[in-house]
Amino acid sequence: MRRIAALLTAAAIIGVTYNSVAQDMTPEEQAAAAVDQRKSLFKTIRYNLGPIAGMAQGAPFNAEVAERNARRIAVMATMIPEMLSVDTSAFDGIETTALDSIWDNQDDIAEMSQTLITNANAFADAAATGDMGATLGAFRAFGGSCGNCHDTYRVDRD
Ligand code: HEC
Repeated sequence: MRRIAALLTAAAIIGVTYNSVAQDMTPEEQAAAAVDQRKSLFKTIRYNLGPIAGMAQGAPFNAEVAERNARRIAVMATMIPEMLSVDTSAFDGIETTALDSIWDNQDDIAEMSQTLITNANAFADAAATGDMGATLGAFRAFGGSCGNCHDTYRVDRD
């Protein structure tokens, strides 16, 4: 019992309770929070891809950073299907570039996320050898796995 009380106190201190997460929110607030959450994940993925894309464009090669960031992206990509499972299409006021076809194609989303994981890890494996040519050679497939999903499931802004 004391342990549960301690956990509840800790949760209260950091402000994370089940109530604050879901129960007190309107459906629109929940959808807005889901969009906010998925954008945050993608922004953090992009943050990690940035230095790698820089190396592919001629910035000094750093095998350690390349491997570390690619492994991070592989782990974060395991969250993509979960983040793209909440149908937020009912609310026009929420800004999103996610296409509504996502909600009926969850298997495809899972598959594309898995492809990203596989390609990110293959890139990281190449980086672990320290071989710049092999590493940058693996970048096309890695970066391409972002673009494949965006081309299919994101509003085309070009
Ligand atoms: C399985 C599909 C999928 C994969 C794989 C994917 N994305 Fe996305 N991404 C999306 C969708 C859908 C959105 C739109 C989210 C929204 O606007 O609600 C998005 C949005 C983004 C955004 C914009 C976030 C914002 O603030 O609006 C960035 C940046 C991004 N993705 C980067 C990446 C990078 C980098 C990769 C690869 C390392 C990647 N994504 C892989 C589906 C994917």
